[in-house]
Amino acid sequence: MLRIAAPLFRYSQQLSTTPARFYSSDYASKFESAQQNVKNLKESPDNDIKLKLYALFKQATSGDVQGKQPSMINFVERAKYDAWAGFKGLTNSDAQKKYVEVVEGLIAEEKGGEVNESGPGVTQGVDGLKISMENHVYRIEFNRPKKFNALTFDMYNGIIKALEEASANKETKFVVFSGAGQYYCSGNDLSNFEKAAKIGKEKLADEARELFQRFVAAFIDFDKPIIGLINGPAVGISVTLLPLFNIVWASDSATFNTPFVAIAQSAEGTSTYTFPYLMGYAKASEFLLFGRKLTAEEACERNLVNEVFPATTFLEECNRRIAEYAKLPPEALKVNKQVLRDVHRDTLHKVNKHESAVLRDRWVSKECEEALMAFMLRKKK
Ligand code: COA
Repeated sequence: MLRIAAPLFRYSQQLSTTPARFYSSDYASKFESAQQNVKNLKESPDNDIKLKLYALFKQATSGDVQGKQPSMINFVERAKYDAWAGFKGLTNSDAQKKYVEVVEGLIAEEKGGEVNESGPGVTQGVDGLKISMENHVYRIEFNRPKKFNALTFDMYNGIIKALEEASANKETKFVVFSGAGQYYCSGNDLSNFEKAAKIGKEKLADEARELFQRFVAAFIDFDKPIIGLINGPAVGISVTLLPLFNIVWASDSATFNTPFVAIAQSAEGTSTYTFPYLMGYAKASEFLLFGRKLTAEEACERNLVNEVFPATTFLEECNRRIAEYAKLPPEALKVNKQVLRDVHRDTLHKVNKHESAVLRDRWVSKECEEALMAFMLRKKK
């Protein structure tokens, strides 16, 4: 379809020297500029927009459709004819106006897609997150390098909102997660539990349970692909979420560990289901129960990671692939992502709910209190 429509678009561009007799006063110069502007778009518009532009151009410059309707076999010419016929009766000036509006809409959409740190919505200042959007790729970077990108409650909420934004943003084809600095992410920020002193540990555990469940559900239900760039060590929930991603690439400096038992907590991120599924029950148990730290190669052998690259060329290699994948058709990416997820969706939600409830009870346990205390005191040595 793309190959068919591309000549259409070029055709409407070639006709940029519009005959003067068709220029109407108000829109003539805007119409001419719009024909130039459409050539400067970073991305070629969708096929139906190209067809619309062609038809409006013809209506604006030649008036109502002429000649015999081509047969269905000649479907390119037929599509052009029908599109043009769709504007039958529209005056030249109205067709110019509509053409200008379509081009202005495309330009606005392109600008709107370029979300950056000072952009709209969630992209405005969530401490610890750096969010950007370029070339159809929505990037979420954990950005607390001094704390090894440990996740605060604000970051969990920020990521949920960012995923909502990436889902709603028509320009976004997929999301890429990475970490700033030496670590990918050191997991839940254990000082999140200091809030217990203010609101009590039962209330905090209830709030945290609700947040964790909602956070993991946002990944289960995210409708576009997710790619993880594991640039360095990954701990806890930043590891357990990885099977909910669609591609995970790791630097050879990355490590993976889930020290849940050591800190008297319990597994989350649906890992009690996904890890045995990916790596087998015995290996998943060793990893989840005994906190064995995996190298990137071991994580790859256990299907947690797709491929490992040398740290020196890691980002370059990943970005090259990302740029290639960003050329894929967005609807097909989205539909296929969802079909893949649908197979396990209900089970994943059930597991998430159960894990969150178990974790909530762990958080109020004496064992957990002692483990958190040990971590805090360790810092003060
Ligand atoms: N929660 C809170 N703070 C964390 C953190 C976390 N998950 N991970 C790292 N940090 C902070 C440290 O408190 C320290 O901050 P400070 O310099 O203000 O004291 C800083 O990041 C560097 O960590 P530090 O422990 O000094 O470095 P290290 O190289 O000795 O150890 C880790 C790094 C990640 C192994 C260690 O910090 C750790 O075990 N963190 C907890 C990991 C964890 O259990 N995550 C939750 C899993 S459920």
